[in-house]
Amino acid sequence: IDADLAKKGEKVFKKCKACHQVGEKAKNKTGPVLNGIINRNIASVDGFKYSKPMKALGEEGKTWTPEEMAAFLTKPKKYLKGTKMSFAGLKKEKDIAAVTEYLKTFQE
Ligand code: HEM
Repeated sequence: IDADLAKKGEKVFKKCKACHQVGEKAKNKTGPVLNGIINRNIASVDGFKYSKPMKALGEEGKTWTPEEMAAFLTKPKKYLKGTKMSFAGLKKEKDIAAVTEYLKTFQE
């Protein structure tokens, strides 16, 4: 973990907080809990109702590698037609790297 980058990522994560929670008491909200999301199977958080196309990616066996995550966060709707994540995306590569590093601090 790059602590400085993770710290920057915590700020970037403010944009995600409207819909996602992380940490011990995290619950599914508009979006699923993001604890342990890095390298996890796509669409595999218990009790969250995913869109069909996102479920399909999970069923193909795809995982949230940092590369996959970067592609998704750049332009969610372009990465996955029909996703119900209503988020325009992060424009700066650096912000994506930072938020990914921040999420790594919530791996079990
Ligand atoms: C799904 C990350 C912002 C709503 C996801 C997933 C990730 C993610 C990794 C897939 C989860 C999985 O496979 O279990 C992020 C990050 C954000 C962000 C890092 C900020 C940079 C938002 C915002 C909203 C949102 C602002 C609501 C307006 C959702 C929803 C899904 C989702 C509804 C499920 C999508 C589907 O089933 O198609 N998000 N998200 N996210 N997110 Fe976000």
